[in-house]
Amino acid sequence: MNAEPCTYVIFGATGNLSRIKLMPALYHLDAANRLPEGTRIVGIGRRPWDQKKWLSEVRDMIEQKSGNDFDETIFQRFSDRLQYHQGDIEQPPCYTELAELLNDKKFPKNIAFYLSVSPSEFGNVMEMLSDNQLFDEEDGWRRVIIEKPFGYDLDSAQALQKRISHYLTEEQIYRIDHYLGKGMVQNVLVFRFANIMLEPIWNRNYIDHIQITHSEEIGIDSRGDYYNGAGAMRDMLQSHLLQLLTLVTMEPPASMAAESLRDEKVKVLKSIRPIAKEAVHGHAFRGQYAQGHIKGEKVNSYLQEEDIPANSVTETYASMKLYIDNWRWRGVPMYLRTGKRMAKAQSTISICFRHPPLQFFRDTDVQCMNQNWILLGIQPEECIRIEMTVKEPGLEMSTRTSSLDASFRNDDEKAIDAYEDLLLDVLKGDRSLFLRFDEVEYAWRIVDPILQTWAIERDYIATYPSGSWGPEDSRLFDKSAQSWRSSLTPECK
Ligand code: BG6
Repeated sequence: MNAEPCTYVIFGATGNLSRIKLMPALYHLDAANRLPEGTRIVGIGRRPWDQKKWLSEVRDMIEQKSGNDFDETIFQRFSDRLQYHQGDIEQPPCYTELAELLNDKKFPKNIAFYLSVSPSEFGNVMEMLSDNQLFDEEDGWRRVIIEKPFGYDLDSAQALQKRISHYLTEEQIYRIDHYLGKGMVQNVLVFRFANIMLEPIWNRNYIDHIQITHSEEIGIDSRGDYYNGAGAMRDMLQSHLLQLLTLVTMEPPASMAAESLRDEKVKVLKSIRPIAKEAVHGHAFRGQYAQGHIKGEKVNSYLQEEDIPANSVTETYASMKLYIDNWRWRGVPMYLRTGKRMAKAQSTISICFRHPPLQFFRDTDVQCMNQNWILLGIQPEECIRIEMTVKEPGLEMSTRTSSLDASFRNDDEKAIDAYEDLLLDVLKGDRSLFLRFDEVEYAWRIVDPILQTWAIERDYIATYPSGSWGPEDSRLFDKSAQSWRSSLTPECK
């Protein structure tokens, strides 16, 4: 698919996401000659900045992210694309003035609106864009990128969808889940569907259970306001982790085309066994970080963070067990967990295979044997490892675990930020890595009973020391032989 010149209009251009991700990603795309000739970027912000101040702000954003890779010549070219539009997005003049600005011939008529604003503002922003005919596609396409969370629960997601569908068709909506833009996440599909040896064993006959962990060392920084209303279940599990689960467990799609891929992902979400309210405690666990140490530094508890009420029971750690009731996965537990202020920052998918029969070794020194695992490191280490049992050198018949490594990035191959990939896909009109509404809807259906139960249990939440692997939640596991796996190197049991 070819990318056509377009105008990227970023709402919330002075905010965190734009600083850390969007502007650096657009700059890197420009540096890689991937932004079509004539592409322009309009940043909308409330602050009374002129063009000069905006350019110096964007320079800071990019320098901070690029470090030694910052290139003055490329930045000059990039800055020619930039335009600041000062306005209050809650007020109509912001939109009439924007419509006037975009009328200028220097702005391509294909326009992508990136809504990096609070979800509560999505509806109003779209209504005012629509009132100013900015979604009319007479002389170019119009696309809207929406950040998560899409709604707060199933009802609010449906209400939001109903409202935005007054202004936009589904083809114009790009619901972003930046996890799908990560190189290693896309590699999960290649690993599964380009290696024929995996398919026969990728099912309940061979796989004991699957774990997905996303742990972070950082706390909530200055996002207290948003985070306290969301919590880990909404912030990470309902979106990113369930998406990872669908990619690992879905049936092979007919093709990589958006609808084929999304159809298969939805089928997985629909097949997940609903969690009854009375079963929530057996399927989900929540915790909140207490004081502790990260990299040797003492850090505050969640309750001591800025904007957090003293009696908050918002979870900063959430884990859950799911079952996918289909032919491939019936009876295989899927364990998902995420937390802030944990021992290590990493995202991994760990697939644990069943034990082989050990009869063969009965008269030897082999006492027990580790199971085979497939480990997919998403970040920071990107890797694919298969753990096998091998004989130890020597006269005895004893074994150890060895790891076959199919890591795919060479030292001279640069990692690409997820946003680069996704921002380019919007220009190309490729929606395969964006969420269709039914995916969001079914994901809410899965977590809603948990959220509803937690919402009324407001007296107590387990805590865990910052810098640990989270609270004690082993009750989630089906068997005593199952436990969280935190390492990408062989673990001896
Ligand atoms: C965001 C969450 O969607 O993903 C954050 O809102 C979280 O709380 C972040 O820190 C993690 O993304 P990444 O790419 O740093 O793993």
